[in-house]
Amino acid sequence: MKTYLVTGGAGFIGSNFILYMLGKYDDISIINVDKLTYAGNLENLKSVEQNPRYRFVQADICDKDAISAIFAENEIDYVVNFAAESHVDRSIRDPEIFVKTNVLGTVNLLNCAKVAWETGDDCYRDGVKYLQVSTDEVYGSLGKEGYFMETTPLDPHSPYSASKASADLFVKAYADTYRFPVNITRCSNNYGPYQFPEKLIPLIMNNTLQHKELPVYGDGMQIRDWLYVEDHCKAIDMVIRDGVAGEVYNVGGHNERTNLFIVKTIIAYIKEHVDSEVGEHMIRHVTDRKGHDRRYGIDPQKIKDALGWYPETPFEIGIQKTLKWYLDNADWIKNVTSGDYQKYYEKMYSGK
Ligand code: NAD
Ligand code: TYD
Repeated sequence: MKTYLVTGGAGFIGSNFILYMLGKYDDISIINVDKLTYAGNLENLKSVEQNPRYRFVQADICDKDAISAIFAENEIDYVVNFAAESHVDRSIRDPEIFVKTNVLGTVNLLNCAKVAWETGDDCYRDGVKYLQVSTDEVYGSLGKEGYFMETTPLDPHSPYSASKASADLFVKAYADTYRFPVNITRCSNNYGPYQFPEKLIPLIMNNTLQHKELPVYGDGMQIRDWLYVEDHCKAIDMVIRDGVAGEVYNVGGHNERTNLFIVKTIIAYIKEHVDSEVGEHMIRHVTDRKGHDRRYGIDPQKIKDALGWYPETPFEIGIQKTLKWYLDNADWIKNVTSGDYQKYYEKMYSGK
């Protein structure tokens, strides 16, 4: 029985990962540590709440006492660090919390794991591993040609990506200095169930259904490389199990789309299946994001060759599954868009 310490497991990708792993394996247990910020939602994990192999602990990854206590009380085999402030627009308005959680929180986790796993000088219990869930945004922005490879120099532009790149460097420093067993995964943009509607796909879906304007930053021709969240979960599972310690793995499915294409796809689906009154007239080009990265594109060859990973869900299927999930879970979206979300939305979009 392997025990995973999953941080940020009440967020979008973390909760998908917990559901994926508990569904796939009978011989693992998961402790989910989450601070429950605006982005954390235990509703996502209702179906496993009573599972004896799952436990939730509310804690901040920056809290040394709380995190050390979890290591002291449990024999943790793997740490999977999803916990982060994850939204670029919020990082532009308020960078400090990104440094606290994403950088200092990561260092605290690394340190607590190191202390708990050390068996001698730079020696650790057999089979343990720390996996840092990073992002392709640490590589910066591409021109029309080329892809991000694991060897691409880090060149983050936003406070969010700068904080993720800093965290990656600390993870690397732990591997280089203490021979600490780590992996870093750098994935492209995810989409799927339980994504908070501050991100492009759920925001546009929700606004379309609500007959609200659809804010497209600048010309809408920026490109993101979209991956269905379950394919990311599968990659993380494979890297924990078979990734070579110290290695970085890029994760992406060669699925580059412009933002305008994404928005028009969502409108077309909703128009056909739900509400014939919606249309492209709802699109509103608004002031561009500061420092907006133009194009992301991942070269996933390393994880394909080394671990046999491949993306299983084509975009056309994944986007339909996602749209259907949001339609079938209207209460979820209603709950997360009540209260503070309205304030966020007005502050964010009123000036655009
Ligand atoms: P999210 O914002 O949906 O979830 C983040 C979770 O972390 C929330 O549950 C939140 O409560 C928790 N959290 C925040 N601060 C915390 C703290 N100090 N201590 C404990 N918990 C805390 O984010 P997401 O989209 O699920 O992303 C998860 C991870 O994957 C992040 O590290 C992000 O950088 C990375 N990533 C995301 C994407 C994407 O497209 N969303 C792509 C590649 C990598
Ligand atoms: P987002 O989902 O925030 O992910 P990231 O910035 O981490 O890639 O945004 C995806 C793309 O969509 C990005 O180019 C910004 C753009 N975007 C809009 O045009 N309008 C919006 O309202 C949002 C939230 C994003």
